[in-house]
Amino acid sequence: MPGTRPLLSNRASSERDIAEEDALLTGQPTQRSTMTGPRTWKFWREIGLFVWAVVATAAVIILAVVYQRHGDAKHSSPHPPGKRNLIFMVSDGMGPTSLSLTRSFMQFQNSAPFSEQLVLDQHLIGQSRTRSSSSLITDSAAGATAFSCAQKSYNGAISVTPDHEPCGTVLEAAKKAGYMTGLVVTTRITDATPACFAAHVNMRSEEDRIAEQMVGDYPLGRVVDLMFGGGRCHFLPNSTVESSCRADDRDIVALAKKNGYNYVDDRAGFDKLKGGAALKLPMLGLFADTDVPYELDRRNENHIYPSLKEMAETAMKALSDATHDSDKGFFLMIEGSRIDHAGHHNDPAAQVHEVLAYDEAFTSVLDFLKNDPTEAVMVSTSDHETGGLATARQLHASYPEYVWYPSPLANASHSAERLALQYTKYLFSSPSDEQKHNFIADQIEDGLGIFDATVDEINNLVKDPLTSLYQYADMVSRRSQTGWSTHGHSAADVNIYSSDPAAAKALVGNHENTEVGEFLRDYLGVDVEAVTKELRQKGTNLKVKTAGGVEVGWMGKIPEEGQRLDGQNHLASYGGDFKKRDGGVVHGDDCGCGH
Ligand SMILES: *[C@@H]1O[C@H](CO)[C@@H](O)[C@H](O)[C@H]1NC(C)=O
Ligand SMILES: *[C@@H]1O[C@H](CO)[C@@H](O)[C@H](O)[C@H]1NC(C)=O
Ligand SMILES: [Zn+2]
Repeated sequence: MPGTRPLLSNRASSERDIAEEDALLTGQPTQRSTMTGPRTWKFWREIGLFVWAVVATAAVIILAVVYQRHGDAKHSSPHPPGKRNLIFMVSDGMGPTSLSLTRSFMQFQNSAPFSEQLVLDQHLIGQSRTRSSSSLITDSAAGATAFSCAQKSYNGAISVTPDHEPCGTVLEAAKKAGYMTGLVVTTRITDATPACFAAHVNMRSEEDRIAEQMVGDYPLGRVVDLMFGGGRCHFLPNSTVESSCRADDRDIVALAKKNGYNYVDDRAGFDKLKGGAALKLPMLGLFADTDVPYELDRRNENHIYPSLKEMAETAMKALSDATHDSDKGFFLMIEGSRIDHAGHHNDPAAQVHEVLAYDEAFTSVLDFLKNDPTEAVMVSTSDHETGGLATARQLHASYPEYVWYPSPLANASHSAERLALQYTKYLFSSPSDEQKHNFIADQIEDGLGIFDATVDEINNLVKDPLTSLYQYADMVSRRSQTGWSTHGHSAADVNIYSSDPAAAKALVGNHENTEVGEFLRDYLGVDVEAVTKELRQKGTNLKVKTAGGVEVGWMGKIPEEGQRLDGQNHLASYGGDFKKRDGGVVHGDDCGCGH
């Protein structure tokens, strides 16, 4: 290694330099023996020079600090930089172990050497700590509020503060500053992460209200130029559309069109956008009633649903074209939303395909940035980890072998969610137990590629169809020896990635999630505080009605005590909750967990 010697010789030469400087300043060789002699003129001259050196050094240090402070202040105060694009990617629920899981799976599937990395792996720059104001374990609402508002809030908060005031978001401020804005997700566009950028409600469950706000029915009017995702059911009136999940008969698609949106709602409509070349902003694209199916299922339904990568590429092209002649660029948030759901379901096969789809979208963003002339950066992180995932599992009381097997993940051709849905539908035909038994045995072979199902495993599915989703997922988890410690979230730190570690220097290393939010506003140089003020002024006397006809503030009902976990208590107190709660009933289909 050539590195060692030059380093050492550099140090030696720099020590020599100091000695030489000493000698030049004092006019004497650097021998400390002078102190032993009488206090001559020479002695006082040396003291004088020494003091001068100290003062000069101090002055240089003070100047350096002042200069740097000045630079920092300049950086954090809102001042418009040149034209810039910012792409913020969120891998919802993806913790560090999701990467180990997916990387090993990828290597197995491609017969690749163990040095082969995901694209994400090659752009790791730091970690984010994820706690919310109400708990060490955040939910996606508080997690995304940390990104959008750069503030900690309580679990369930959609860009509102713990005292239920709205906080301006980076997307809203970007729009005010003249940027174009976009949101691309694979879950409902009204779900917590996208909602936090363009809506303000006290409880994340108010997705009907979020849909209204996101198309511009709130104090700031229309702020999102492009939305792609699922969640159509929250936009359609319950009186005429059977798939509606609204609690009222308002037609939010009609409202969106009134506010100028062009609307597409299927694959054919998406294809007509020609990858963005024929896309007219503002654009609302809703491609599923609720969530877009897991990639594991979607890849066989590509003619029905666009992929995350396709949506991301189309959005980047459209926003780039639309800002071509502008002195402002765009802000785009792209979420791999359902990595989180696969964690909630404890379904490792579904998860690796979600992460791979995210890795592909990530690669597309890197390619776009490479070819687009505008100064830009992409930052990618997660709001939290989900599932307490481990690439290990102790199956028996005896000490485990050190093994983890990707092959059972590769054998699965469907998600546990899809198999549970098929089974539930099948039950409507009132089959006999023997018919159910045969149906399940076929499902397990065809859908999971499992040929050694036990009698108990099949009997349990016959007996307890409500938990079938968790049972299918567990069959794959046990065979691969994948461990999960919860169907909910965990407090693990999550990774931060970037296209450019220099541009995203502020996020290198270990950071609080609110610092990610600070980076977003700083990079764009936008005034989020002004938006907060405007929201609070315009919203003061603004009332809306609940579906039940009750008048409430424009951000909807405030959660009652106990509806959310309250601050200090939750952090400090321990309620003996370790005892067995009920019959161990889990809710496979609707966990009510608010993902
Ligand atoms: C549909 O909307 C109406 C009012 O707009 C409401 O009274 C009714 O309860 C809603 N139905 C459902 C199933 O939510
Ligand atoms: C995967 O499927 C093949 C048949 O396609 C089967 O032989 C093999 O045992 C399965 N692997 C696992 C781990 O179940
Ligand atoms: Zn989340």
